[in-house]
Amino acid sequence: MPTITIDGKELRFEQGQLILEVALENGIAIPHYCYHPSLSVVASCRICLAEVWAPNPKNDNKLEPLPKLLPTCQEPAGDGQVVYTSSPKATANQKSVMEMLLNHHPIDCAICDQAGECTLQDYAYEHGRGDRRCDIEKITQSKKDIGNHVMLYGDRCIMCTRCVRFTDEITGTSELYIDGRDAAESINVFPGQGINNELSGNVIDICPVGALLDKDFMFAQRVWLLKSVPSIDPLTSSGDNINIEHNNNQIYRVKPRTNLEVNQYWITDEVRYGWKFVHDEFRITEAIEDAQTLAANTLQQASRIALLVSPMISCEDAWLLGHLVRSIDSNAIIGLGPISTVGEDKTFKTGFTLRAEKAPNARGVRRALGDILDYDAWKTQASSADTIVITGNYPDAWETPQVGDDQTLILIDTIQNPLSERADIFLPAATWAEKSGTFENYNNTLQPFEQAIHPIGDAKAEGQIAMDLQALIDDCLSTTFNAATVRRRMADAGIAGMLEVELPKSTKSVTTDMPLTEV
Ligand code: SF4
Ligand code: FES
Repeated sequence: MPTITIDGKELRFEQGQLILEVALENGIAIPHYCYHPSLSVVASCRICLAEVWAPNPKNDNKLEPLPKLLPTCQEPAGDGQVVYTSSPKATANQKSVMEMLLNHHPIDCAICDQAGECTLQDYAYEHGRGDRRCDIEKITQSKKDIGNHVMLYGDRCIMCTRCVRFTDEITGTSELYIDGRDAAESINVFPGQGINNELSGNVIDICPVGALLDKDFMFAQRVWLLKSVPSIDPLTSSGDNINIEHNNNQIYRVKPRTNLEVNQYWITDEVRYGWKFVHDEFRITEAIEDAQTLAANTLQQASRIALLVSPMISCEDAWLLGHLVRSIDSNAIIGLGPISTVGEDKTFKTGFTLRAEKAPNARGVRRALGDILDYDAWKTQASSADTIVITGNYPDAWETPQVGDDQTLILIDTIQNPLSERADIFLPAATWAEKSGTFENYNNTLQPFEQAIHPIGDAKAEGQIAMDLQALIDDCLSTTFNAATVRRRMADAGIAGMLEVELPKSTKSVTTDMPLTEV
């Protein structure tokens, strides 16, 4: 295998890998702006330039310096090369690039949402000059609303063109372009058009500075106060990997988590902004006193139970509910809740797909509960039951089934709906962000998610409710729901795949070292 030495470290690489890629893969942080692993190489920002020495075959393969600094984001690694990214020449270039970028930048970090996760800010500290030598009038540009979710602060832009390439190469929608020339050039949208494709929020993530900002997150929270927890798309069958970012038990934003096999670097706007139901004003988070005792008594006295398990809940929750109901009524009528589909799957240029199926875990519920009825069959057969247990946890109104006047309804749900008015006993459920568990996506990949915030009010995971009811029926103490423990129990019960569930490898976790002060 060929090797290259970067900043004194000898590294192996695959033929065709770029010097920057080899460096980043091995923890060597060469500064870069225009490079993004999923976009074409333009080598325009020039900050990644390094000094490269290469063996010269005409001179006994002796190492010789190449005449110019080379862009490491464009230059394939060569066997035997020696690269210096912090030599005097490379450092002087980095300082010059930073100086040039900051000439017209407003330096308004104090009021910029990107502060704390801005590479312009980071590189100014690491690679910039301590003083400003240039005494010119800065070119200013006003901010511009360029889409449903995106705000452009033009004078913070460093013209890396990542956003333009994203709309050309990933979505194929080309809403963004470069307007003007030289120092006055700017990113723009065509008159009357905005960047409103289904993946538009991703341009906010790939913008390395505070030029493209998220209207939804604007001025909501400083990023260094946010804690980040790995999770999975709770709305569709995509299994897209996400991070939930929260503070003080409030979610502030959802960001994509890279998984090249599932969602690459991206998420849809549907997933990015779809978490709002967690804090919805129509959520029911209070339980009446003794609701669980009433539910346990009702189940014990039932002669036939019909259980409808929502495709919005985790494998672990589904399995515990099924286990509870079958332990009381071995002939219980168990079915899968309604799965809505909107349009058809839509695949973008590089293969990223927006899923039409609007449920994250239909396959996981079937895996957990075995041979269960589909929704229509369940509706027909459930009319013979005297006790109905229904779980919802849909993000908004859902197609609720009819429940007869002579049937007792125990509803475990999150948001007000016609059934919550009808329910004899209502048990508030925790949304996916308030619990841990596993979802199985459209191609049967099982992926775990972690709890981001504490359950709101009296809400509990459906699995915890099942364990509490079981304990009341068995007259013993309940234990705390733990998804990993439930997966082990499921594996012991013969359910395939539950022990192979892999927890996310790395979690970006940011905690503040500065307490908030009320002013
Ligand atoms: S808006 Fe951001 S992503 Fe687009 S060119 Fe400017 S700096 Fe790059
Ligand atoms: S990252 Fe190499 S030139 Fe921009």
